[in-house]
Amino acid sequence: MQLEVFELERIQSEWEHLVRFNLTESGVEPLKISELVSEDQIVNWLADTKLGYSQTNGTIPLRELISSLFPGTDADNVIVTNGGAEANFLSVWNLLNENPERNEIVTMLPNYMQIHGLCKALGGIVKPFYLRTHDDTWVPDIEGLKEAVTSKTIAISICNPNNPTGAVLHETQLKAIAEIADEADAWIISDEIYRGAEIGGPMTPSMFELHDKVLVTSSLSKVYGLPGLRLGWIVSIDKDIIKGLWSYSDYTTICPSKLSDMLATVALRPDIRARLLERTMNKTRNNWEIMRDWLDTHSDIFEYVVPRAGPFCFPKYNLNIGSVDLVYRLIHEKSVLIVPGDHFGMSKHLRIGFGYGEDNLRSGLGLIGELIQTIK
Ligand SMILES: Cc1ncc(COP(=O)(O)O)c(C=O)c1O
Repeated sequence: MQLEVFELERIQSEWEHLVRFNLTESGVEPLKISELVSEDQIVNWLADTKLGYSQTNGTIPLRELISSLFPGTDADNVIVTNGGAEANFLSVWNLLNENPERNEIVTMLPNYMQIHGLCKALGGIVKPFYLRTHDDTWVPDIEGLKEAVTSKTIAISICNPNNPTGAVLHETQLKAIAEIADEADAWIISDEIYRGAEIGGPMTPSMFELHDKVLVTSSLSKVYGLPGLRLGWIVSIDKDIIKGLWSYSDYTTICPSKLSDMLATVALRPDIRARLLERTMNKTRNNWEIMRDWLDTHSDIFEYVVPRAGPFCFPKYNLNIGSVDLVYRLIHEKSVLIVPGDHFGMSKHLRIGFGYGEDNLRSGLGLIGELIQTIK
């Protein structure tokens, strides 16, 4: 068992605080605490909260708020985790460990590569199925998925809306995936962390209601602009697996931070949640205009599929340089950071995040433009 470097997280960890313009973020500009609760409340909380361990699977009010987003569930269908990262970790660890005779996970590519690396590190076998471009949109290769799934497949892992493409799978495609999982009696790990960051369209359908064995993972990091809370969750209609996952979290982080649980309970209150989702949609829609104009002025170099959700896009470029080399040239020559497509399992692509400030975006793009004009 060998731990592969998680290249996407590594390059961000090493460079995001050293460059002048960081366009690697996949969420929107984070909120200040004072945008969530009043200053009096902050002072009271900070002064009066006893920093004990919090309820280890998340407080009941928080789990009730999360469960209210999933029909037919209550607080016992939810476990609160430290970010979407722990939610994915627990899901993969639990499924592989509890089912040693079925060690294959079929994952969508391109993708955030956590489950990909983790499955291998935990002794599992990863099999890819691809999103492919067709008629100006990304579509899942359902035939490829059918071929990849075997009786040893314990889970199909999808990310919808997808990071890095911004693709949104519609209900017919989700149903086709659910049917394949059903036939193989496999779980679906559905990472829905960007659900609610649609650029104008309707809310992305959830996999939750389409198959019995679904673990939906998500967090407050992207759509809600609160990554620093490190607050995520797993929801399943199957309460037994949620209970099982809880005992796995005894071995990871024990519980969410107490202050994060309190602030999350504010953020997910229906009125505040609606405000945060609107903020994200406005920011994403507005900055996409800037991003698109820039891509269009470099149409000799880039081809792109319009992202349907998430403040990032994944253009393909036609320069004679690999994506990792190009990104390191940008770091060293222009002090701009973006993510190489190779770190998502796809060469000759770049992921550019546009969810932060407009000035940061315009300046970073300007510098990328300067460099790419010099490469043939
Ligand atoms: C698809 C996906 N899942 C999970 C995560 C991890 O999220 P969190 O910051 O909530 O741990 C990320 C972070 O970029 C992501 O893109």
